[in-house]
Amino acid sequence: MKNNFDQVINRHATGSVKWDFIDRYQNMQTDNLLPMWVSDYDFACPSNVLEALHRRVDHGVFGYSERDEKYYTALTNWFERRHQLLIRPEWVCSIEGVVPGLSLLVQMLSQVGDSVVVQGPYYGSFAKIIKLNQRNLVENPLQEDPDAGYVMDLEQLEELFSKYRPPLFILCNPHNPTGRCWSKDELTKLLTLCEKYDVTVLSDEIWADLLLPGSTFTSVLHLESRWHSRVIAATSASKTFGLSSLRISNFLIPDADLKGRFIERLNAHGLDVFNALSMEAATAAYNGAEHWLDELLGYLAANRDWFVSQVENYMPWLRVIPAQGTYLIWIDCRALGLNDDELKNVMTEIAGIAPSMGSGFGPSGSGFIRLNLGCPRSYLEQAIKGLLRIGAQ
Ligand SMILES: Cc1ncc(COP(=O)(O)O)c(C=O)c1O
Repeated sequence: MKNNFDQVINRHATGSVKWDFIDRYQNMQTDNLLPMWVSDYDFACPSNVLEALHRRVDHGVFGYSERDEKYYTALTNWFERRHQLLIRPEWVCSIEGVVPGLSLLVQMLSQVGDSVVVQGPYYGSFAKIIKLNQRNLVENPLQEDPDAGYVMDLEQLEELFSKYRPPLFILCNPHNPTGRCWSKDELTKLLTLCEKYDVTVLSDEIWADLLLPGSTFTSVLHLESRWHSRVIAATSASKTFGLSSLRISNFLIPDADLKGRFIERLNAHGLDVFNALSMEAATAAYNGAEHWLDELLGYLAANRDWFVSQVENYMPWLRVIPAQGTYLIWIDCRALGLNDDELKNVMTEIAGIAPSMGSGFGPSGSGFIRLNLGCPRSYLEQAIKGLLRIGAQ
């Protein structure tokens, strides 16, 4: 059966952060903005997931729950089938979200005042968990590249490692907001540096399943096993299948000592019980929603192609950054010659859209916007009409 991703589903008054809380979180006052900021889909989740949830709800008993054999098998089979990655059930630590897990790991693997390195532009929650845990955020800006979009600046990274001696590096792969999928070669060079300076890598791989045609994903766990003692991969079914509010993620930690310490942390916070509905949804998604995802990836790729062609053909004042993954699009607006406040006003008051402002991704995001293309095509048509009005000014 073909899924109808063109269907518009009204998300107003569902407690949706993206639709109902633009004012509170984005401080954008204009009414009737088209929200293109938060990264979640405006699509219904896969029907087999809905059916599994209905069945579980109908059971009616919601006592304490734990992950069973089915959960681990669904997860390990998924990584083997989709990414040719063999993970062992004993590596898996589950926690309600990637961000809370990363935050606990920042606490576990660094001290107050230590430096933690991220590549800019960086996902805003990385800054939040580093700064609110009283660590020092050190930015290693990515370099713009006409073909790849962005490339790593490993030379500067080495200088930063040598100067700040950080215990931790947070990697985002595929990269939010730029859509870069890091190659094996780039990751190998990165890990070589991390080994030289004794840095542990927290690799946020939440976007791993969202690849554009022809792109592949390389996990830090695909690299040499001697690096397993210094890598942790954070994964989740949430981005892939549109389950963000169900709150479940899996941290893959091959090193027994690191894993043991993380489990102890989770236990210390009482985070050793699991949500029955989340587990049901994740298991059903990994087991039975592969076809849904493949169809969706086709829809998302067509969305991107159409959007990019509109911008390239009719909006010389914007520049789309080439991407290999995610359903996000990172757009260079610097040719407009506006500061970030002015850019925000133009986007809301003239284009009528609520983007994620690039300035929320650190200093190297200034002058950019990020849009979420995980929506019905008609929303993109509305966004393009709005963006065209900027040129008419
Ligand atoms: C790179 C990245 N990590 C983590 C998250 C959120 O993860 P969670 O909702 O599981 O905390 C997002 C959401 O946009 C993201 O882009």
